[in-house]
Amino acid sequence: MKILNFGSLNIDRVYNVSQFVSEGETILAKSLKIFPGGKGLNQSIAAARAGASVIHAGAVGPEVEFLVGFLRSNNVNVENIKRTNEETGHAVIQVNSSGQNSIIVYGGANQLLDDAYIEHILNCGETGDIVLLQNETNSIGKIIRAAHDHGLYIVFNPSPFPRNMENIPIELVDCFMVNEIEGATLAGLSLPIQQELILDSLIKQYPNSSFVLTLGSKGAIYRSNAECCKHNAFGVQAVDTTAAGDTFCGYFLAGLCSKKKTIFQCLQEASAAAAIAVSRAAAAPSIPTYSEVHSFLLSQEHNMEIFE
Ligand code: RIB
Repeated sequence: MKILNFGSLNIDRVYNVSQFVSEGETILAKSLKIFPGGKGLNQSIAAARAGASVIHAGAVGPEVEFLVGFLRSNNVNVENIKRTNEETGHAVIQVNSSGQNSIIVYGGANQLLDDAYIEHILNCGETGDIVLLQNETNSIGKIIRAAHDHGLYIVFNPSPFPRNMENIPIELVDCFMVNEIEGATLAGLSLPIQQELILDSLIKQYPNSSFVLTLGSKGAIYRSNAECCKHNAFGVQAVDTTAAGDTFCGYFLAGLCSKKKTIFQCLQEASAAAAIAVSRAAAAPSIPTYSEVHSFLLSQEHNMEIFE
């Protein structure tokens, strides 16, 4: 079982600031660093570092060998990445003194996936393989319909949340990976609201889908018609929360691919990986290897407070 990830590839320009810039304000950044990023790239790296077999599908512009090379050196299959003359996607990321972020993404080449390319990638899959999507590339609805026709297992992380959900056949998605805001919006509810009510509503509306609701420092919950499972977050000092959700997503899916793990184990490894990522700077470079996650879990054995 492998993952076909239709995902963004971004150059992340990370500005360290004391506080996020406000409307009409100009501030000085304390530092600027440039990293590989993009929700798609980050999720491919996380899944591959967790041991999954990953084919990355996406598009870049000229002179971005460091993005493709970074994926390749992490054992992600990059043979099908499309080269274009459009500008590569990029993100302007402010990270404040509490490690929280604020992000603007410019899509660029990420928006150039066409029908022939989508079909070519889907033909690389076999029945039951995972097709993973975020919302930083184009043609999401088309990819979901086509992936369904190919008998693939569709995982959708609707981030950033789509402005127009009407073009997306939500009922064909097998598994949603959402944070609290995305989950509530998908359910048609407004925050603040109890997490259980978000999941109750989602399951009622989309009974054939499963949901992974990530709650930051409050942990994560998996819910399907057959199963409900929770895991607390591991407490760490936040340095930079960028890509924590992507790390969680990639690790969780790698766990599913292994077929030997319970949902609880998948949540546990994903929570540990996300905690490590939060304790480090940057997006993709902060994603831990599987052996780091394993050691972290051993070190936490004494204080695991878990719910099932
Ligand atoms: O989720 C983090 C990612 O969001 C960053 O790497 C940035 O590129 C944006 O896509």
